[in-house]
Amino acid sequence: MKYAVITGVSKGLGESVAKLFIESGIAVIGISRSKNSKLPQLAEENHTTYTHYSCDISDTAALEETYYDMEKEIFSEEPSAVYLVNNAGVVEPVDQAANIDYKDLLRHVHVNTAAPMVLTNLFLKKATAEGVQLVGANVTSGAANRPTYGWSAYCSTKASIDMYTQTVALEQEELNTGNKIIAFSPGIMDTEMQNKLRSSTKEQFASVDTFKKYKENEMLSDPDSVGSVLVDILTDEGIKSGNIYDVKDYL
Ligand SMILES: NC(=O)c1ccc[n+]([C@@H]2O[C@H](COP(=O)([O-])OP(=O)(O)OC[C@H]3O[C@@H](n4cnc5c(N)ncnc54)[C@H](OP(=O)(O)O)[C@@H]3O)[C@@H](O)[C@H]2O)c1
Repeated sequence: MKYAVITGVSKGLGESVAKLFIESGIAVIGISRSKNSKLPQLAEENHTTYTHYSCDISDTAALEETYYDMEKEIFSEEPSAVYLVNNAGVVEPVDQAANIDYKDLLRHVHVNTAAPMVLTNLFLKKATAEGVQLVGANVTSGAANRPTYGWSAYCSTKASIDMYTQTVALEQEELNTGNKIIAFSPGIMDTEMQNKLRSSTKEQFASVDTFKKYKENEMLSDPDSVGSVLVDILTDEGIKSGNIYDVKDYL
């Protein structure tokens, strides 16, 4: 039995990735604060399982507790492989750096950087001890390599998760564990995150009009198409650990 653990399953890309894994018969464990009402029924129809863990991943202690519950659920079933998709992310606070309150900043860093690192570290340790392959993906952004006015937090956390991915991939390779870890840049998608960006003022986000045009001109990708690229990469035996995959090379 294979398991896929996906953060941010209530909507957007995370929901799409969860749907696709379920449709391929893989047992899915989803994490988000709010539940997804469609995934349990979909799992039943596809003769697999879906479990939801409600967790605010900015609370690291709560995340660790949730991890141990998931660990019990997964490893008691002697899985043949575990996929981990660190997808949950936030773009806010969107504003000039000098206007950002430190509490909002720390919350952002906890969701976008600390949570994926903590989850990956815990899964790597257990999977290696159990001799189960872990294949992990951290969802990144083009913003990791492109300074953007109003996105000092987002550009920094996405750049950070790219470096974490490459560093851990290097360690796993040298340790010869067989575990793989990649980053995946999904491009601009028609999700709630884009909606939030469009509601910014020009003072907060200088390119807001460009982002409004992306929506008006139907330039945003459908998260289901993007999700299928990610699931194909993750389930391909030839996956290159340490790579930062970009959806634009596939769609
Ligand atoms: N949309 C784009 O154009 C775009 C572009 C480049 C990269 N990305 C990246 O793609 C990923 C998915 O983005 P999306 O557009 O699908 O976002 P979205 O529609 O806003 O969904 C975000 C997901 O993350 C979860 N989440 C947020 N904060 C959380 C918290 N504190 N605890 C637990 N879960 C939390 C949300 O669940 P709850 O609210 O229910 O907790 C939701 O399921 C993100 O990493 C994002 O940075 C998106």
